[in-house]
Amino acid sequence: MENKRLGAVPPMGWNSWNTFTWDINERLIRDVADKFFTEGYKEAGYEYIVIDDCWSLKDRDEEGNLVADSTKFPSGMKALADYIHLKGLKFGMYSCNGTHTCAGYPGSFEHEFQDAKLFAEYGIDLLKYDNCYKPKQMSGELLYKRMSLALKNSGRDILFSACNWGEDGVYQWIRESGAHMFRSTEDIHDNWDSIKNIATSQLDKECYTGSYCHNDMDMLVVGMYGGSNDSNIGSKIGGCTDNEYKTHFSLWSIMGSPLMIGCDIRNANQVTKDILMNPDIIAINQDIECRGAYRIEPSWWNTEGIFILVKALADGNLAIGFFNLTDGDRELAIKFWDTGLSYASGMSLSLYDCWEHKELGVFKERYAPVVKAHDCVLVRAKLVR
Ligand code: GAL
Repeated sequence: MENKRLGAVPPMGWNSWNTFTWDINERLIRDVADKFFTEGYKEAGYEYIVIDDCWSLKDRDEEGNLVADSTKFPSGMKALADYIHLKGLKFGMYSCNGTHTCAGYPGSFEHEFQDAKLFAEYGIDLLKYDNCYKPKQMSGELLYKRMSLALKNSGRDILFSACNWGEDGVYQWIRESGAHMFRSTEDIHDNWDSIKNIATSQLDKECYTGSYCHNDMDMLVVGMYGGSNDSNIGSKIGGCTDNEYKTHFSLWSIMGSPLMIGCDIRNANQVTKDILMNPDIIAINQDIECRGAYRIEPSWWNTEGIFILVKALADGNLAIGFFNLTDGDRELAIKFWDTGLSYASGMSLSLYDCWEHKELGVFKERYAPVVKAHDCVLVRAKLVR
């Protein structure tokens, strides 16, 4: 491996699946690459453009190679990779550890080294590797190790994005396998329940995320507003509110998930852009030490659906998120004592609100914002005398 920083911090990018599923083509991918540039996503830190399932023909060629669907990608994958690289961006593709991908295209089972070589020839920089049609007798753990080894020996730096939905005790072996990120949940859907369920299911898994192997809570649904060509992903009730998307982005950021945009950024509105490109929130996600966030129970009698997450940052600051997933407004109080800040230290916390983009002042011993239903407050706290 040439690039020693590959996967050091959570990857950021865009993935075709949430909005477009099977309806993908090179025009779309090029347009997304252009938007990364003109709309500021690249400058905000987004880097990878990933084509998900449904890019190939249903059969391999005579040599057993995967073949890109030439009606969707007439110029071929190499040309598309070149286009993306010319923009200073990185290109990601998709395959699966079984005989077929989830949508029924050829998978990489028993073709791992051949496919890794082809992907390297295409010039890809990331491979998302799914878990469908895995032969029953095969261990998933072994198959992820296999593709990881194949990629690391493909002659190109390729970030390995494992996607086994949190199955087979993935937390126990994924870091050793060489993968740079691992999906730990079922697929996300563009509705509040899905966001809530995924986030709460991962609160106890934060000890497993960290540099070079990030807990992937699935692609973002921010800005989709129910708009997917797969009604299973886009909720039939019209997606989420802007506040819910803001809470979603805050959760994924502080919890250290890769940030892979899933909406149609060609038509994103200003609110969506402000959420996805909030530099203060992104800085928390991209902190070089990649500490998992720990949970503090708010000082209150009924804590169901409310929690405080604290992430220790490399410069000694703390990111503190106050999350209210309930349907009513709530006050969430944190005692600074619970972060390790003792009374005897004589220190206080100077708080900066990462969504309001303003200093909130200096607080001693405790802070207790009122957080609206389905909303959050995310602050960066600096220790001061
Ligand atoms: C699922 C995966 C999704 C998407 C889909 C493609 O297994 O979790 O993110 O990749 O397959 O068929």
